[in-house]
Amino acid sequence: MFKEVTTEQEYQDVLAIREAVFIDEQGVTREEEFDEYESSAHYFIGYDEDGKPMATARYRGVGSTAKVERVAVMKAYRGRGIGKQLIVALEQIAMEHGYQHFKLGAQTHAIPFYESLGYKAYGDIFMDAGIPHRHMEKYITTNQEK
Ligand code: COA
Repeated sequence: MFKEVTTEQEYQDVLAIREAVFIDEQGVTREEEFDEYESSAHYFIGYDEDGKPMATARYRGVGSTAKVERVAVMKAYRGRGIGKQLIVALEQIAMEHGYQHFKLGAQTHAIPFYESLGYKAYGDIFMDAGIPHRHMEKYITTNQEK
C-alpha cells in the first residue's frame, strides 16, 4: 500500500527508512539528510502486507515544478517494482495538486531506475552529500491536452 503521509506515526516510519538507507547504508550525515524542507515537503510511504514500512519518497513544490527527493526502498524490498509503484503514486497525487513537471537529482546508479519511469537526465554530474548525481526531469501531459 502506498499513500501520502498524514499521521505522526507514518512520518516516524519515513524517518526510520531514511535513517536506515541514507544514513546507515549510504553514509550521508544527519545534517545533510534532514534539511530545512523537512516540515513543508509532502511525504509518501509504502507498507508491506504485514504493515512493515518498506519505501518512502517526498516532493515539494518549487514554483510550478514538483521536486522529488529522498526516494528510498529498504534493501530487502528492492528489485520488485516497489520503488516504481511508489513514484507512480507520488506523481498521481502531485498531479492532482496541479503539478505536471517533475525534477529530481538522481544518484548516478539510480538513473536507469528513473529512466524506466520516463525521466530524462540532463547536465553534468555533480556531487551532493559526497555522492555523484545528475539532474533528471519529466513532463506529464494529461489526456485532455493530447
Ligand atoms: N540499475 C538498473 N536498473 C534498475 C536499478 C539499477 N540499480 N534499480 C532499479 N532498476 C530498474 C528495474 O530494473 C526496473 O525496470 P523495469 O520497470 O524495466 O523492470 C525499474 O528500475 C523499477 O525498479 P524497482 O524494482 O521499482 O526499483 P527498487 O524498488 O529497487 O527501487 C531505488 C530503486 C533506487 C529507489 C532503490 O534501489 C533504493 O532505494 N536505493 C537506495 C537509495 C537510493 O539510492 N535512492 C535513490 C536516490 S536518487
